[in-house]
Amino acid sequence: MVYKANIRPAWVVLVLLMLFTLAFTLVKTSDAPTSKAIQTEQEKPPKTDLSRFKNATENENCLKCHGQSKYTYENPESKKTVTKRMYAELVMDRDVFYVSNHREFKCTDCHSEDYSAFPHAGNLRMEAKANCIDCHGGDEKYAKFKFEQIESEFQASVHSEKHSADFTCWMCHNAHTYKINARSNENLSETITYDNLICLNCHGDVKNYQLLTNKVKPNILQKHEWLPNQASHFTNVRCIECHAKNEDTLVVAHHIVAKSQAVRKCESCHSKNSILYASLYKYQVSEKIQKEGVIKGLLMGDATSIGPDKSNTLNIISLVIFGLTILVIITHAVLRIKK
Ligand code: HEC
Ligand code: HEC
Ligand code: HEC
Ligand code: HEC
Ligand code: HEC
Ligand code: HEC
Ligand code: HEC
Repeated sequence: MVYKANIRPAWVVLVLLMLFTLAFTLVKTSDAPTSKAIQTEQEKPPKTDLSRFKNATENENCLKCHGQSKYTYENPESKKTVTKRMYAELVMDRDVFYVSNHREFKCTDCHSEDYSAFPHAGNLRMEAKANCIDCHGGDEKYAKFKFEQIESEFQASVHSEKHSADFTCWMCHNAHTYKINARSNENLSETITYDNLICLNCHGDVKNYQLLTNKVKPNILQKHEWLPNQASHFTNVRCIECHAKNEDTLVVAHHIVAKSQAVRKCESCHSKNSILYASLYKYQVSEKIQKEGVIKGLLMGDATSIGPDKSNTLNIISLVIFGLTILVIITHAVLRIKK
């Protein structure tokens, strides 16, 4: 067994993790609702320099209500100014919108001009929304993204098959927050987190999941119990590595296959010809090849650090660091309780 050496460290990690949870609970319970908790409820002004965006002033007409947790309007009958809470799911974060792909847009490029009136007319919520393909399809400027191929992969995916009418591209590409990562972000772990959160938005949140189905949401952790080091896997590989059929021609695979076809074999990744070279590391490696020449790119890319070749010393070092962190946390917790 190749992974035998890891079994004992795994136990150590488990015990440390339990200690960690315990310490964390102690810290939590010893925390009275302090000034810190109250502070987080204060609305912070956006960090974004709004003057850099030509439509920002106009967008403020919407964001003065949709940009924070409360909104104000004048009641034309009583002539009084009324302040109300904004529904949490209708609140947008300016800082996130203004780094997203569609940051140069006006709200009313995608939404009806009629939204300028408040209260909004009831029929507006029936408004049809443009799809990605409506704007990006057949456009030379975006040819490198291969929208048409993505569209057909998506049509063949389990999500489309089971919920073709309700499952749109917007369900994974939030209209106000989506920003390209895999292609351009040099920080691999940021990309992994970003991409996995897209899936977990439904597979980790029953309220969103059940917008599409009345089925009980499967427990993701339980369903992957066969996978050792779950935490390590979920932070080092993307869901789509195992769940989507990879094509050379796409940066991000969109053909999510049935669960029976998901990758389960350890050797698929933990081997010299790991599938990760063609998916997760695809862009990183090819970039490096361009910059540093073939050999360096292939040998020194992140990809080489996985698998059975990985040195055991590194494991031990990271365990020691982990242990020390726990110790600090426990000491901290004990000190706090004593106070
Ligand atoms: C005076 C505050 C206010 C302003 C200004 C405002 N909205 Fe709204 N908006 C609301 C409230 C409250 C709701 C929820 C109640 C409703 O749907 O009418 C809402 C709902 C919405 C919805 C969701 C409708 C649905 O249920 O599907 C959209 C989309 C929307 N607004 C877009 C806009 C856009 C675009 C603008 C700017 C052109 C804008 N709003 C300006 C307060 C405002
Ligand atoms: C690129 C197109 C696009 C732009 C730009 C855009 N929206 Fe949206 N917006 C959408 C789509 C599509 C939906 C529906 C998402 C869904 O149903 O999954 C939506 C939904 C909403 C909702 C309802 C909340 C929800 O999640 O259903 C509000 C409120 C809203 N938009 C306000 C705004 C405001 C304010 C702006 C400008 C700051 C803006 N939008 C800019 C496309 C856009
Ligand atoms: C209303 C038209 C419209 C819709 C709908 C739309 N886009 Fe866009 N999108 C654009 C335009 C225009 C740009 C270029 C914006 C710019 O240059 O600042 C853009 C930019 C992008 C970019 C960045 C391109 C780059 O080179 O940086 C990506 C990726 C993207 N869109 C993906 C999508 C996806 C995915 C969807 C659907 C979920 C979508 N778009 C829906 C019009 C649209
Ligand atoms: C099940 C979730 C899901 C659905 C549905 C989905 N996507 Fe994606 N898409 C992703 C993920 C995850 C990424 C990677 C985002 C990143 O890190 O850049 C992505 C990336 C993209 C990119 C950028 C690829 C590149 O080359 O950089 C485009 C373009 C895109 N999707 C278009 C679409 C279109 C069009 C649809 C609908 C036909 C769609 N997506 C539906 C999950 C989805
Ligand atoms: C190492 C490969 C791998 C990774 C990484 C992985 N999965 Fe899975 N997943 C599988 C396999 C194999 C199955 C089939 C398990 C079974 O049928 O017992 C599965 C099952 C599932 C199912 C079906 C559950 C059911 O029984 O209905 C869902 C949903 C799912 N995974 C979502 C995810 C999400 C979301 C992520 C990312 C956070 C993820 N998976 C990461 C391999 C993986
Ligand atoms: C908008 C919500 C939503 C998002 C986002 C989403 N899923 Fe799903 N997914 C579902 C629902 C709902 C089902 C159950 C379909 C059914 O059985 O009716 C499902 C089913 C699945 C299944 C099981 C298919 C089977 O064979 O039963 C897998 C695997 C899966 N999703 C993977 C993913 C991955 C990977 C991502 C991210 C790239 C993702 N999903 C994003 C809602 C979502
Ligand atoms: C989709 C690809 C993929 C699959 C399938 C996969 N792994 Fe992994 N595994 C990884 C990656 C990536 C890491 C993180 C590597 C790192 O930390 O350098 C990892 C980490 C690990 C670790 C922890 C190594 C460490 O040093 O932290 C173990 C143990 C492990 N995998 C065992 C397995 C076993 C056993 C299977 C089969 C049941 C499996 N993996 C399936 C990609 C995969």
